Amino acid sequence: MRFNPFKMLVAFVLAIGLLTAPALAGEVEVLHWWTSGGEAAAVQQLQKMLKTEGHTWKDFAVAGGAGANAMTALKSRAVSGNPPTAAQVKGPQIQEWADLGVLTNLDDVAQAESWDKLVPEVVADIMKSDGQWVAVPVNVHRINWMWCNPMVFQKAGAKYPETWDEFFAACEKIKNAGMIPVAFGGQPWQEATAWESIVSGVGGPEFYTQALVKADEKTLASSKMVEVFEIFRKIKKYTDKNAPGRDWNLATAMVIRGEAGMQFMGDWAKGEFTAAGKVPGKDYEALTVPGTGNAFLFNVDSFIMFEVKRADAKKAQKAMARLILSPDFQVVFNVNKGSIPVRAGIAEDSFDAVAVKSMADFAATAKTGGLMPSMAHEMAVSPAVRGAMFDVVTNFYNSDMSPQDAVQKLAAAVKEAKM
Ligand code: BGC
Repeated sequence: MRFNPFKMLVAFVLAIGLLTAPALAGEVEVLHWWTSGGEAAAVQQLQKMLKTEGHTWKDFAVAGGAGANAMTALKSRAVSGNPPTAAQVKGPQIQEWADLGVLTNLDDVAQAESWDKLVPEVVADIMKSDGQWVAVPVNVHRINWMWCNPMVFQKAGAKYPETWDEFFAACEKIKNAGMIPVAFGGQPWQEATAWESIVSGVGGPEFYTQALVKADEKTLASSKMVEVFEIFRKIKKYTDKNAPGRDWNLATAMVIRGEAGMQFMGDWAKGEFTAAGKVPGKDYEALTVPGTGNAFLFNVDSFIMFEVKRADAKKAQKAMARLILSPDFQVVFNVNKGSIPVRAGIAEDSFDAVAVKSMADFAATAKTGGLMPSMAHEMAVSPAVRGAMFDVVTNFYNSDMSPQDAVQKLAAAVKEAKM
């Protein structure tokens, strides 16, 4: 082959092009379901950071709390051979996508950024398939919170509850003072969110683990579980008639406005208070659900990345993965989202008192066994078992099924789903 200086030059220029960011700026199309005020404020931080590195963000937002609609949209795009670059997917579903062989292996980013040293093992295990990183964790959410409006409590002469008896006493007072005790959204995932906190509050960590992580049929059909359904039914009395179908953030808004006293919800609800300029300890109070002070029901948001061919798209995708676990993003995202950083060693200074408590409780419960994966938010059981639990919980809540029947149905449905 003859030496051709022109060809050499072209090859050299192309190689330099491959190494420099602007020439390789790419687009990421990102599927997520973060559409409420607080959620949008949080996800916009990622768009901004990617833009700073020269990449573009194509938003693929599918509204609907807890992501059921988003997952349907993702499946249909994947089936048509056109998945987005990245998608918000959690828990065991990460494995299911990895098993299809369509995910980008993120080990190179993970190694360069020392993810194995920075992410707690319990979380890293969920993000890996066959020991390889196939998802990036964003945050840690706590589920077992109750968001309260102090003015409502004050007007009603009610006291913040620590036990279920105190909880119902407060409900009575708020109701008698003409306000709505519990802001509720009647959607299966919101019902399951409240229900699993009650399971933890009534039964404690061991009971919760047997019932909602191990899906043990004897525990699911036990008399303790009857008690759980009794409390769940009683709570309904203190919700308003417009609860069915209400979105979670609209329920949060009722607490923010002082129309309702409390809401059972994970700390993405805090994102709504933050977006409304509200300060914890002054404008609102975050209490752990009665009986769950020693428990931390957790849920980790994460993104999977689909294999892409173009070098620019690959570069943008890897940049997104790297940015998500960067210290700056972990602060600014989680401050807006209501969650806490999933990356170890992030300073507390930028966070409010609720987040600081969450961080302390996360560390403490990891030692005592009180740190438990959320069933409702896809951390604990297979999608089939979760679906079976959701069906029984929502059927119970929306009918006059007895608690005794509910526990039998629950054990039977779970047994079938496991087969
Ligand atoms: C997700 C949160 C989200 C919430 C409401 C949860 O399952 O983990 O990130 O804010 O659903 O959509």
